[in-house]
Amino acid sequence: MLELFPETAEDEGGELAIGGVRVGRLAEEHGTPLLVYCERTLRSQARAYRAAAPEALVCFGTKAFPNVALLRLFAEEGLGADVASLGELAFARRAGIPAERTVVHGNNKSDAELAAAGGALVVLDTLDEAERAAAAGVRRVLVRVTSGIEADTHEAIRTGWHGSKFGLPPAAAIEAVRRALAAGLEVEGLHVHVGSQLLDATAAGMTVDWLAAFAATCRKELGWTPAAVDLGGGLGIRHVQDEEAPSVEAFVGELLRRLERGFDLHGLPRPCLILEPGRSLVGRAGITLYRVGAVKEASETIRYVAVDGGLSDNPRPMLYGARYTAVLASRLDEPHEHGYTVAGLHCEEEIVVRRALLPEPRRGDLLAVPATGGYTLALGSNYNATPRPAAVLAARGEARLIRRRETLQDLLALEVS
Ligand code: LLP
Repeated sequence: MLELFPETAEDEGGELAIGGVRVGRLAEEHGTPLLVYCERTLRSQARAYRAAAPEALVCFGTKAFPNVALLRLFAEEGLGADVASLGELAFARRAGIPAERTVVHGNNKSDAELAAAGGALVVLDTLDEAERAAAAGVRRVLVRVTSGIEADTHEAIRTGWHGSKFGLPPAAAIEAVRRALAAGLEVEGLHVHVGSQLLDATAAGMTVDWLAAFAATCRKELGWTPAAVDLGGGLGIRHVQDEEAPSVEAFVGELLRRLERGFDLHGLPRPCLILEPGRSLVGRAGITLYRVGAVKEASETIRYVAVDGGLSDNPRPMLYGARYTAVLASRLDEPHEHGYTVAGLHCEEEIVVRRALLPEPRRGDLLAVPATGGYTLALGSNYNATPRPAAVLAARGEARLIRRRETLQDLLALEVS
């Protein structure tokens, strides 16, 4: 089970430790729920991307967890940032990510966003964005195109199909390149993102083949070829034991091979590669630590263990039917053999883990859910006027606060009466 946890996860005499810090100490010092990130895992995932594609620009998909400390850490590893809003751009700036290593996305960018992008690479997503971007002072752009390839993943995170709200279908994308060139923009290349939480390289690989053919069409129709291709993000992670995900090396290696083969085949110069991984950089590195509260038998077959969070820190089970697992982090050495449903505290029939095998939980125990570093707190809300949790970064026996816990005062401060 610990293989789903960050690299530094250890059983220290029956208590889970991350980065050399025991969960009991983390909970005592920072409270629960708490997102605990392992610095070593974050760095090794970033390094895996750099090693798999040494020439590529790797931009962290900030949306997976917009956090200045994490962005700084990734910047130290040579990564840039993919941002999809003015807010994420502000986070990347605060972390010192230079414009040359920032990619700006959005299917409905405002004039303010375009103006703020400055020297960053802006991904054009609609036909009229070329002139709007040029007027706002943008210089460098990519054009986002949909391949029509449907990835095998949840429909909410499948984005390459014709009809997606993102990007433009091929004919319109060619028109967007034409308009961007006419507007005097440096059109550096093309962007695709086939989907997220991909557990094999099939759809992403097919997209690369398709993109090479599309680049050849661009050359024929426009006399223009992409100097750069941005393949987006997408590599998935294991959340539960019966799930398998490719390694960064295998996934990126496959994309690179197909990119080189495809561009060679069409007699096109090999483009620079941009990647935008989100979940695969932060997902496994983060765990969520909860405190156990109510334990009850709801029927002959359903036993609940309720924790002090849920929708407010991780709505993924409710949004996508996402599966997670859990351990009793304060009693790791006891047999995990009783089936429980882990419920949150919000006013819905809300599930955190549908079925977890645990020792009989008691009020006050600590429960840890692994593989929650991406799209958890980022998607969290203040439902039921619940303050959202804190996040810490653990390494070498210390945990540093990287996002403070919200307070009721924070929430009340928004109220006007
Ligand atoms: N680039 C673009 C243009 C994207 O739209 C995304 C994710 C990424 C990169 C990063 O993808 P990743 O490597 O993380 O798969 N809330 C959903 C995931 C939404 C993904 C949106 N776009 C979830 O919790 O599963």
